Amino acid sequence: MTTDYSEIYERSISNPEIFWGEAAEDVQWEKKWDKVLDDSNKPFYKWFVGGKLNTCYNALDYHVQNGRGDQTAIIYDSPVTDTVRKITYSELLEKVSTFAGALRDLGVSKGDTVITYMPMIPEALVAVLACARIGAVHSVVFGGFAPNELAIRIDDAKPKVIVSASCGVEGKKILPYKPLLDGAIEIAEHKPEKCVIFQRPQVDAPLIPGRDFDWETLMSKSLPADCVAVAATDPLYILYTSGTTGKPKGVMRDNGGHAVALKWSMKYLYDVKPGEVYWAASDVGWVVGHSYIVYAPLLAGCTTIVYEGKPVGTPDPGAFWRVISEHGVSVLFTAPTAFRAIKKEDPNAEYLKKYDIGSLRYLFLAGERLDPDTYHWAVDMLKIPVIDHWWQTETGWGIAANCMGIEQFPVKAGSPTKSVPGYNVQIVDSEGNSLPAGEDGIIAIKLPLPPGCLPTLWNDDKRYLEYVTEIPGFYVTGDGGHVDEDGYLFIMGRMDDVINVAGHRLSTGSMEEIVAKHRDVAECAVLGANEQLKGQVPVGFAVLKSGVDRDPDEIVKELVQMVRSDIGPVACFKQCAIVNALPKTRSGKILRATMRKIANGEDYTVPSTIEDESVLGGIEEAAKKLGLGK
Ligand code: COA
Ligand code: AMP
Repeated sequence: MTTDYSEIYERSISNPEIFWGEAAEDVQWEKKWDKVLDDSNKPFYKWFVGGKLNTCYNALDYHVQNGRGDQTAIIYDSPVTDTVRKITYSELLEKVSTFAGALRDLGVSKGDTVITYMPMIPEALVAVLACARIGAVHSVVFGGFAPNELAIRIDDAKPKVIVSASCGVEGKKILPYKPLLDGAIEIAEHKPEKCVIFQRPQVDAPLIPGRDFDWETLMSKSLPADCVAVAATDPLYILYTSGTTGKPKGVMRDNGGHAVALKWSMKYLYDVKPGEVYWAASDVGWVVGHSYIVYAPLLAGCTTIVYEGKPVGTPDPGAFWRVISEHGVSVLFTAPTAFRAIKKEDPNAEYLKKYDIGSLRYLFLAGERLDPDTYHWAVDMLKIPVIDHWWQTETGWGIAANCMGIEQFPVKAGSPTKSVPGYNVQIVDSEGNSLPAGEDGIIAIKLPLPPGCLPTLWNDDKRYLEYVTEIPGFYVTGDGGHVDEDGYLFIMGRMDDVINVAGHRLSTGSMEEIVAKHRDVAECAVLGANEQLKGQVPVGFAVLKSGVDRDPDEIVKELVQMVRSDIGPVACFKQCAIVNALPKTRSGKILRATMRKIANGEDYTVPSTIEDESVLGGIEEAAKKLGLGK
């Protein structure tokens, strides 16, 4: 489809109420809204106030009632368990309503929270859709997080019930989940009343009588539950994401704005039609999984793929091509890391020759910077549009993209193209003044954010205000960058302590908090260093307490293990150096930006505020020993 981007964009910004009011006609409402945008309590904004709907109804019942019952809703493709299973919309509706009935029987009702901690199996989708069906608020915790991280989320979300599985399968590893879940509940102050465990054939998890319930047993005796209409502004889910401290931010998503924005995005951003196969190769634990494995494809009447595997090693770098050809995938969405992994193992894409991937129309990439090398490689190999798009957990859908359903712009490698309609993206200085084309600054979005973005943080309006009060009138994204003379946006990276490791968002601040807890460590800094495959990896620099004369290598091993046990393997904290001192300003602030430049082998100027310049030599030496720096 080719229409006029400028006209659509202008309309979305100059009159968002008309624009989104029209888009909302595409969603089924139990009761239409009284007001499209309520801005009476700035900087808090509410979309579709007075409206009532059910997200699960829109994702399932509506399609079954309108002739899609026999269409495949989910393709479960699991090379790690050698399984391919298809579930139609009718079958999915039956499973979801039955599990919704089971949750209801366990005492879950509208407004209650439910945590899910599950691997990439269809039941992970059944569980969240069942919550949506009865108006419960789900919070998915990624399986790669350790018990401590799960416990932090349990204490914040205070779930009535936790839904989990007996194990995950990561490549060749079988990871029992139950010990992690039990460990988390033990650490947490809040104790969920009940847990539901899906027993996988690989591991039979022991159940605690009275607290734990077997998924299949519940399913066999529960009666289906109907959809409960909720307010458009009621929460659909909480998704915790890394901030700059150890306490994750509970990004809240509403029901109405979310359904409207995601459905709109499928048509205009991804140019995908009902009935087509849409594959987001991510994990339900991340925002990409929430939006584009679960909700958007189902809202749009597409077939979604639940892929339990990796881009390489399950069994080879042809894994993605096999899935595309076997299931007729039209649109693939993944993180650049996945393509870097394939490129590394199969630089000439020999495996691609074994498959017919003619069904694939677009490759969308997001989650981290798309480096030009990877972009060009993907274009050369696939010979289809490769679309970089930029967004974050907070927004829940694309902020900047080349919108394939509107107007296809020529690609500039390294840029996610232009602002998506609805997002008034500006490059500003710390006072909110617009910066000229080409000049790097803070990337901010003029309020209000479009529907689908976070209305606030769960139980933490105060922390939400940090996003929207730093520069009055703007939402500060945390990213820095510029717009060029053609209006193309360039994202240069985070301006805070958030890093992206293999497309997984992590906080260096939370790693620092863990390293600093070690009995021998006086102080430390953890920063993101560039890495070829994963984009960034965390690197630590620790100063020991005076008098400590233990083997530094032993201490480093302990630090690595501490981060792994506290955050989880997904943190990828494997490199740490013991140094004599950290570079600081005269007022005692650690010069992390300078350290980052040293670790990345970039030129740097010695900050005029530095207390002791000679300390930098020690950092350079330590970086070199870790194989970093110049
Ligand atoms: N449950 C338990 N452990 C998990 C996990 C999960 N769901 N996901 C990852 N882990 C573990 C891995 O097993 C690994 O553990 P290890 O240190 O014992 O080997 C660790 O966390 C790091 O995982 P990962 O960063 O995925 O590295 P990898 O070497 O296993 O795979 C890639 C590298 C590039 C193949 C992989 O990161 C990938 O496919 N990335 C695609 C990006 C993506 O999906 N991003 C999501 C947002 S869009
Ligand atoms: P997450 O919340 O995990 O989606 O991570 C969001 C962060 O990932 C953003 O703030 C960016 O720093 C980074 N990011 C996401 N997509 C892109 C992209 N296309 N280009 C550059 N950085 C990106």
